[in-house]
Amino acid sequence: MAGTDDPETFGWDRIEGILQNDGAITFRMIPVDRCAQIEERLTDIGCTISWWDVFDGSVDEIRTASQRLLKTPCDGLDLNMPSASDGPAIYERAQVFMAEHGVAPYPTQVLSGAIGDAALAVLTEPNDGSIAATAFAYFPYNRHSTHARSAWAGLVAVREDMRKRGLEAFVNAQVLMNAVDRMGADRVQEFARTRNIASCRMIKHCGLSRRSDVRSGIAQPAEAVSFTS
Ligand SMILES: CC(C)(COP(=O)(O)OP(=O)(O)OC[C@H]1O[C@@H](n2cnc3c(N)ncnc32)[C@H](O)[C@@H]1OP(=O)(O)O)[C@@H](O)C(=O)NCCC(=O)NCCS
Repeated sequence: MAGTDDPETFGWDRIEGILQNDGAITFRMIPVDRCAQIEERLTDIGCTISWWDVFDGSVDEIRTASQRLLKTPCDGLDLNMPSASDGPAIYERAQVFMAEHGVAPYPTQVLSGAIGDAALAVLTEPNDGSIAATAFAYFPYNRHSTHARSAWAGLVAVREDMRKRGLEAFVNAQVLMNAVDRMGADRVQEFARTRNIASCRMIKHCGLSRRSDVRSGIAQPAEAVSFTS
């Protein structure tokens, strides 16, 4: 999905074209005092935007919190961190799992790191290989952005019968540590709806803090079905 963290420079003609052709565009790290203006412009072209809270953390904040979380056992599950050489099957299974759990999956080229550094964590059952949880991180911004060295983490989902055990923080911490230690991110961002209390708590446990100055969101035609929980 296309996105912009600078709508005026990117241009509203292009934004409108993307909404017509692709049906969605992400607005990232928008100052809160600009959000109403964006909502008005979108209304004028028959579109709407659904905002997320933004969280982010520095390398040190993430290391401190995530190293502690990674010491907790993950209930005998296997941790897989696939790479492009593993073939498409694991990505296809992860995509199905995410979609079944209310998270809009990313394409295989993005999940596998084929078009840019990325980290996918998949927890599986040792007996049958079924997926228990997923998380993902990559660099969503290009070189023109002030956030170019910020990674984004998300696509966290835990199978219903595996919830309330801390697996969400464990799998999220895996991709956060990958983002800062292997991928070299300066900071990592995550987005969540205010109403998704479990998600917001998980993100804070992993060392990220809510940003009161910015919001992110997906714009879509007014009649479209929302992408994420
Ligand atoms: C979001 C998700 C990964 C969280 O995993 P989970 O195992 O359900 O998380 P938990 O139930 O352990 O909740 C996490 C924390 O939130 C707290 N919490 C959850 N619901 C709460 C509520 N209604 N009120 C207060 N606290 C709540 C839990 O007590 C826990 O706190 P703690 O870690 O301090 O003990 C999981 O619910 C999921 O897969 N949801 C569907 C996909 C999704 O929404 N992904 C996030 C997209 S941004």
